[in-house]
Amino acid sequence: MEFENLLINTKNNITTISINRPKNLNALNIKTLEEIANAINLSVENDKTKCIIITGAGDKAFIAGADIKEFMDYSSNNAYTFSETGNKLLFEVIENSPKPIIAMINGYALGGGLELAMACHIRVASDDSRMGLPEVSLGIIPGYGGTKRLPLLVGKGRAMEMIITGRMINAEEAKSFGLINYMVKKETLIDFCNELANKIILNSPNAIKYAIKSLNSNYKEGFDNFSDEILNFSKCFDSDDFKEGTSAFIEKRKPRFK
Ligand code: CAA
Repeated sequence: MEFENLLINTKNNITTISINRPKNLNALNIKTLEEIANAINLSVENDKTKCIIITGAGDKAFIAGADIKEFMDYSSNNAYTFSETGNKLLFEVIENSPKPIIAMINGYALGGGLELAMACHIRVASDDSRMGLPEVSLGIIPGYGGTKRLPLLVGKGRAMEMIITGRMINAEEAKSFGLINYMVKKETLIDFCNELANKIILNSPNAIKYAIKSLNSNYKEGFDNFSDEILNFSKCFDSDDFKEGTSAFIEKRKPRFK
């Protein structure tokens, strides 16, 4: 599939999706949002992909937010559709992807850009990255899950302060808040993320799928999380991965998951 605003590269079972609008600091217009969703869906179907990395092209930005130029004339009706469609089409797809997705934050991650990173399963940022939800400075609030996912990661107090001041924080502060999993030197960012992905893909893809599902269900309203974990745990026992993982342990060798 041809993509206008993305660069895609699959190597050693890792698919890297780079948002390629560096002149606009990789701002998320609708076209790009749709393309990322398509790229993820294709990667999930592709047997060669075991882990996905999302990043921004150029050396300045991961994603500087939703494309302000595109939504500046919206009415509240348009904005409702924009937020609802974006959430369903992309952000929920990222969060619920059965294949792990790492946000490789290489510069500004603002507004919808930070919201996209927060929907990913793991966040790694270069030491020069800046993160924030500056929407209130535009007269709006975060619309791609920011008021929901930020407090889950950093706590209500910090999320409230970040959102109502709209201030940017640096990678060190983001790390101390628990917003990112790792802060690494800019020049080591790609290698670090690939090594992390390589560690993940040694494990059972089937078990990873159920682990993501079970963890995510904690945050779904009305879900009985313990019965969900019990069910997902039991499903793993029907899999070839379970047979391979336990046999490898007994035979004192490394597992070879298919
Ligand atoms: N939308 C559209 N274009 C953007 C953009 C965005 N979010 N962010 C940057 N750009 C464009 C700029 O307009 C500029 O384009 P031109 O050269 O055509 O003028 C280009 O990218 C480079 O940007 P700057 O000249 O502003 O670069 P800078 O280094 O001076 O500043 C910045 C960098 C601090 C990130 C600044 O660009 C900025 O504040 N960007 C907007 C950040 C923002 O408010 N994001 C939230 C968007 S709203 C949202 O995301 C809603 C939601 O939750 C769904």
